[in-house]
Amino acid sequence: MAHDFMPGLAGVPAAKSAISDVDGQRGVLEYRGIRVEDLCANSSFLETSYLLLFGHLPVEQDLSRFVDDVTHHRRIKFKIIDLIKCLPETGHPMDALQAAVAALGMFYPGRNVEDLDNNYWSAVRLIAKVPTIVAAVARMRHGDDHVPPRDHLGFAANFLAMLFDQEPPKVWAHILDVCLILHAEHTMNASTFAGLVTASTLADPYTVVASSIGALKGPLHGGANEEVVQMLREIGRPSRVRAYVDEKLKNKGKLMGFGHRVYKVKDPRAVILQRLCEQLFAEFGPSPLYEIAVELEKVAADYLDAKQIYPNVDFYSGIIYDKMGIDMELFTPIFAVARVAGWLAHWLEQLRENRLFRPEQIYAGEHNRPYVPIDQRR
Ligand code: CMC
Repeated sequence: MAHDFMPGLAGVPAAKSAISDVDGQRGVLEYRGIRVEDLCANSSFLETSYLLLFGHLPVEQDLSRFVDDVTHHRRIKFKIIDLIKCLPETGHPMDALQAAVAALGMFYPGRNVEDLDNNYWSAVRLIAKVPTIVAAVARMRHGDDHVPPRDHLGFAANFLAMLFDQEPPKVWAHILDVCLILHAEHTMNASTFAGLVTASTLADPYTVVASSIGALKGPLHGGANEEVVQMLREIGRPSRVRAYVDEKLKNKGKLMGFGHRVYKVKDPRAVILQRLCEQLFAEFGPSPLYEIAVELEKVAADYLDAKQIYPNVDFYSGIIYDKMGIDMELFTPIFAVARVAGWLAHWLEQLRENRLFRPEQIYAGEHNRPYVPIDQRR
């Protein structure tokens, strides 16, 4: 049967899913039918993770059990710490994260994906341990010791405490928790799709998440948050924005943190992240990067409004992390800390009605070529 080829599978449904939905024309994002704005205002990252994984908001007792389970699985084995120690400090933390998550699969049972109880514990372990791995990578690449998790702290506060070896201001923990909610899930994006393809082979969940981490790393996907801050630093001050945009677009370059396959309006996550920037800077002083970003959004509108290209989730997030003193190279790993919840929700959904992903290709090569012996080749 002949099929139209859609580069990037644009517009081609790859799965039926009840996990999240995007209305790209109206700028609406829902997790399990609940608007992301409502979740940011009322929920926590762990409650939102529960919602994504199990399809409904937990009653108090279930939430408390889930939070306890995650809290008690935050520690990582010393062999994982040793493994991270052996990796080059010059390597990107996303690569270290991918290696460490793949290694987790050697310590914990995961191959029997029909064991639903074990699947629960795999999900708990991954949500719990990925932040600990990211913090360990962050510290050890600067020659500092790994800081173990602190059980009395919530998810986001503990992550910041593991990074900085001191408890963060409450506002930082709250803002980071909202950032994690915003990054937890986003329909059939590239990393989720990569994970689904791996899941469809019935591989263990550690391998599934390692596949997704690989796809998230690229600058067209999660890697864009790091590139945005790099771009803002390169611009240097608001007065240079117009010249930068002019030059970039004249040469057919892309502004990082702008554009989206689905949104034809400003990404609702960017709207919330911008508000979080303002909340953070009101209390902790201004950020020169934010001033450049606001000017960039204004100037870019003159060029890109007509193409319906607006800031996406990656535009303002890095500015928040930068203000907290987090290294640029950790921005995408922090995206992964949150997105693990969405990846795992899709993994569980895929297993319920699994069919191996095995698409077709349109062959565009030759046929019937002779094998030429090496001494006769030119
Ligand atoms: N700056 C300038 N022009 C752009 C941009 C941009 N950021 N994004 C798209 N365009 C233009 C592009 O040049 C092309 O123009 P023309 O039709 O004249 O050749 C047109 O818009 C379509 O671009 P495309 O790359 O074919 O669109 P796509 O739907 O395949 O790409 C995208 C979506 C996100 C890859 C793209 O917008 C992009 O590269 N953005 C910059 C990287 C970025 O911010 N990525 C994060 C994505 S959202 C969160 C996430 O997934 O992590």
